Amino acid sequence: MTGAHSYGEYTTHLRELTADVTSGRPDLHHRLLASVDGEASEQLRRLVPLDYRRQVGAFFTPAPLKQRVSDLLKSRATSERYLDPTCGSGDLLLAASHALPIRESLKATLEEWTYRLHGWDINSEFVEAARHRLFIAALLRHGYQRLNKFPVADTSTYFTNVVVRDGLEALKEREAFTGHIVLNPPFNVVSSPLSRPWTARPTSAAALFTYQAANHLADGSYLTAILPDVLRSGSRYSSWRTQVDSILRRSSLDTYGQFDEHADVDVFLLDAKIARQKPLEISSEWWETTGHAEISSQSVNDFFSVRVGTVVDNRDPLDGPEYPFARARDLPASGEISTPARRRRFSRRVFEPPFVLVRRTSRPSTSQHQSRLSGVLVTGERAVAVDNHLIVASPRDGSLKSCQTLLEVLSSRSTSDWLDNRIRCRHLTVGAVREIPWLV
Ligand SMILES: C[S@@+](CC[C@H](N)C(=O)[O-])C[C@H]1O[C@@H](n2cnc3c(N)ncnc32)[C@H](O)[C@@H]1O
Repeated sequence: MTGAHSYGEYTTHLRELTADVTSGRPDLHHRLLASVDGEASEQLRRLVPLDYRRQVGAFFTPAPLKQRVSDLLKSRATSERYLDPTCGSGDLLLAASHALPIRESLKATLEEWTYRLHGWDINSEFVEAARHRLFIAALLRHGYQRLNKFPVADTSTYFTNVVVRDGLEALKEREAFTGHIVLNPPFNVVSSPLSRPWTARPTSAAALFTYQAANHLADGSYLTAILPDVLRSGSRYSSWRTQVDSILRRSSLDTYGQFDEHADVDVFLLDAKIARQKPLEISSEWWETTGHAEISSQSVNDFFSVRVGTVVDNRDPLDGPEYPFARARDLPASGEISTPARRRRFSRRVFEPPFVLVRRTSRPSTSQHQSRLSGVLVTGERAVAVDNHLIVASPRDGSLKSCQTLLEVLSSRSTSDWLDNRIRCRHLTVGAVREIPWLV
């Protein structure tokens, strides 16, 4: 029994629904439609405790994202086979089924889809739900009301490649699958020897699954993945990006935004073709800078030294000289201060004004009128200890004028637009601030 055993209630509902429809019960259309749409996620939230959902990263793909994946798959030649290594209750396999044809009879379609759709998940309740939902999707595609003969509604006969299996284990086999992997993996942080190529530290399960999925695919196959934005934009995943780029050729990166109203994490869509033998080339960045780069070849880094504040307040001992101490929660939203009023003893690096402080948490902009970033200029005479939730930008020419220009650059619309594209996760990186185009 797994932590998802209570999802069995919904699986039973799906089983009864397929049995009802194949026995000819009328008026089931809206219930069938709901079952291949958002209902599986609603029931997941209702039946499975949040702790367990977090533990295994069970957040099923919402309808708009599913549509994006489905459009992507339909825009190119259909693959012989599709695999979702963490299939949950089958939303991405349903998206893949939209790209598949139907045959002259429901039975023939079910047989073909059974051969072409593959899915794994560690939770048997999700796997069973996925099989029922694929069966229902085939019924709906055939206009089941017009059918007078149904195949047996026993999902043990169909979708036999959608099975309970540990995806990470199964993906270990190299270049074993020819076709198209669709992936919306767990996003939690895990420790695994499989992450060695880019880190020995705990890492995102999404990074692991993507790397393993790319390795599992034969050359010429495709990978489409829904991934947390930190993999695209975070400096700690730059080595992961290099590893992944050595296996595949990216065709598009779609910065989608927040996963859904229940999961406040920004995601992007990676779409790529496996190409191990590609000629040596410098891969493009994982973010688009074209347009901005044409307008300005200079960036903040040309004029400022940018670092993270050095004080970890609850960990660093209160020793050394006493300094004014800048903390994010004491600062105004923007503007200028002289010397922070708070004091703290500190024995490591402090910063000489003038400099500009930028909060490290910053949400992608939600309106055209709101700028994503703002800085606070510190002008006083005394060196300041700075909390590590703040980024410190010190002007290379030491001038107040440069700091004032930086405030304008940070709060401009073009910087917000650039930044929303460059980094959508909530924690700004020093790298991203250094790269902000210097548009004055
Ligand atoms: C983010 S959900 C995505 C489900 C589905 N792909 C979708 O898009 O709706 C991740 C799924 O991964 C499953 N999972 C977690 N660890 C796994 C593993 N090691 N192998 C296979 N599935 C796993 C969870 O049970 C959950 O259903």
